[in-house]
Amino acid sequence: MAKLLIRAIWKWPQWLLEVFSWGKSFKNNPIIGSYWLNLCGLHVARVVLAQVLFRFRLLLLAPLVPAADRRDFLKKGYILKENFLPQDEFQRLRQALQDYRGEVRELVEGTTLTQRTFMTRAEREKLPALKAFADDPRLDHLMRYCSSKNRPALFYVENLCNHANVVPRPDPQRDMHADTFHPCVKGWLYIDSVDDDNGPYIYVPGSHRLTWRRLKWEYRQSLEACKRGQARAPGRYWDGSFRVSEQALREMGLAPVKFCVPANTLLIANVYGFHRRGEAERRSNRMTVWMQARDNPFNPLFTLWPATTGRVFEWVWGQVLRRLDGPRQAAGEQRVFCGGFSRE
Ligand SMILES: [Fe+2]
Repeated sequence: MAKLLIRAIWKWPQWLLEVFSWGKSFKNNPIIGSYWLNLCGLHVARVVLAQVLFRFRLLLLAPLVPAADRRDFLKKGYILKENFLPQDEFQRLRQALQDYRGEVRELVEGTTLTQRTFMTRAEREKLPALKAFADDPRLDHLMRYCSSKNRPALFYVENLCNHANVVPRPDPQRDMHADTFHPCVKGWLYIDSVDDDNGPYIYVPGSHRLTWRRLKWEYRQSLEACKRGQARAPGRYWDGSFRVSEQALREMGLAPVKFCVPANTLLIANVYGFHRRGEAERRSNRMTVWMQARDNPFNPLFTLWPATTGRVFEWVWGQVLRRLDGPRQAAGEQRVFCGGFSRE
């Protein structure tokens, strides 16, 4: 009992700090997960403030990208560009990733084997085609604008092995969800073309916008997410990545679209908008260069030194991943190996 009390006192500053940053777990943080605070509007206040500051930063960063891209991003929640790289550059990149040998993290989601490599600056130096893509000013400007943080993204290579020969685990990627309570972006350059065979990305255009109906939905979800024990509906997620039903989508006047796209397509999406990984009909692969840029949504400012800040974030994230490796491997959620990506 005394131990629990000391732990709670020790943890309070951290929990409080999380409220004013990207903390989102209703389960692990008793302030974020407080029924009474959310009844008084804590969650919706965080949602609204994060949106206002996001739009403010976007306004200031508007000169970075052409007006048409800004319109797409603000109206639909995503930017899609086919044939992003010149064909010869894309083929060089594709070949380099097929032949890549390095440290791969592997986890099972449903019947999908997800292989990922964190492509730090040092790793990118070894792959000139990937370095050229990461340093492409068009990509750099798009990611700096869409993240609203004016810093380059973190880069990964992700290779999905659909219907792999694995013992299935719960798959959080297949349910329609928003990643978190605030706008943030992820990007993909598709190395493989995408169709129903290898599982297209599914996104709900316009669902990134904070409408009155969305705000009411957020309020109801925040109260649901605070429930404990018997009152808690089964099969729900309590990590702050709220799942949305088809009926709730219809009530909000929204409908999903499936991105069946050719290889060499760039997609950048605001993952506050609802999305999910589509079903793959066959044993197949889907490789992408995967990018993300998540930051404190309550910081009204952005960096004036994108390259330096990008390097600091990359170093810190590399350390975080290293620290997570041990517990994840001990829990049987992940394995790490040196080698190449599995390709059919
Ligand atoms: Fe997601």
